[in-house]
Amino acid sequence: MTDSKISTVELGRGGPEVGVQGLGCMGMSFAYGPTDADEARATLERALELGVTLYDTADVYGFGENEKFVSPFVRAHRDEVVLATKFALSLDHEDPTKRTIRNDRPYIRQCVEASLQRLGIDVIDLYYMHRRDVNVPIEETVGAMAELVREGKVKHLGLSEVTGAELRAAQAVHPIAALQSEWSLFSRDIEDSVVPAARELGVALVPYSPLGRGFLTGSFANADKDLTTDDFRRTMPRFTGDNAAANAELLEPVRTVAEAHGATPGQVALAWAQQQAQVHGLAVVPIPGTRKRTRVEENAAATRLVLTDEELALLEPIASKVAGDRYADMRFTSAGRE
Ligand SMILES: NC(=O)c1ccc[n+]([C@@H]2O[C@H](COP(=O)([O-])OP(=O)(O)OC[C@H]3O[C@@H](n4cnc5c(N)ncnc54)[C@H](OP(=O)(O)O)[C@@H]3O)[C@@H](O)[C@H]2O)c1
Repeated sequence: MTDSKISTVELGRGGPEVGVQGLGCMGMSFAYGPTDADEARATLERALELGVTLYDTADVYGFGENEKFVSPFVRAHRDEVVLATKFALSLDHEDPTKRTIRNDRPYIRQCVEASLQRLGIDVIDLYYMHRRDVNVPIEETVGAMAELVREGKVKHLGLSEVTGAELRAAQAVHPIAALQSEWSLFSRDIEDSVVPAARELGVALVPYSPLGRGFLTGSFANADKDLTTDDFRRTMPRFTGDNAAANAELLEPVRTVAEAHGATPGQVALAWAQQQAQVHGLAVVPIPGTRKRTRVEENAAATRLVLTDEELALLEPIASKVAGDRYADMRFTSAGRE
């Protein structure tokens, strides 16, 4: 593994310059089973050495613990790191499958103060609306977010899991730097209307779960059998039962392409996500999540892997064959509202 840094890209028109791959920090405190905190901290540092500069968290990850976890790292490298966090979603402590979504101004103002305090910083580089509350006009929500920019609490705005129409309405109120949505070899619903809207508006796409939450790497094959009981992936229809078995078969062409390059299936998945920048003509900054140094090295190296047109064609049919939705309840995704 060389220590040469990954290349950079502007995160949306007028947005910050970031490494072409970011780091998802969620799993360091939340959702994906037990964590080695020392290794996770070392992973944050290793990523930065490799030129990864966009770090992704949210207030809901670990009920605030994830923001607290990344805080010392962010404070130590304040000028190098572009820190992204999110508001809108809260989970029930007793039953984390129960969720509340709020997009109203008083709630946003309360959330930003709480995130700034947990992170121990003066300004959030990129502040996302995590999920859409359809009872609040998006213009009102983005208006309240724009106030935070004017007040110097936030530098750039982002949205997650919004439709193309919602993105257009938002951009009419204030520039949106980035749209974060699920996008991978397994999840391509955003290509119908969200990606074209982002391209037209100069908004960068930040694919979350670009490794299909780890399934595309082959690191687990069936959530029921391979993951701990508290792992969030056990609630996801495509990773359990017969769906998981059928979906594991779909990885065959990914392995074939990987072998041709002496790469791993995960690297092929990341290269595919990265290459959507050329395919669709917009900035794309995937944020694979990992808590391990060796994996962040492997993932960063994938930014240098270029797939041929023939390989892209071989991978093309996979998404349409995936069995099971990407969430148990799709109402909270852009696809659920299109
Ligand atoms: N906006 C949203 O609604 C939303 C939703 C989900 C996630 N996100 C953000 O997106 C980030 C990434 O998504 P994600 O974590 O859900 O999924 P992902 O990046 O597709 O996959 C993460 C999983 O893959 C494993 N992994 C990572 N690199 C690997 C490698 N090279 N080889 C084998 N396994 C590897 C990780 O395990 P280890 O950690 O053990 O390496 C983890 O279990 C999150 O951290 C979060 O910041 C946002």
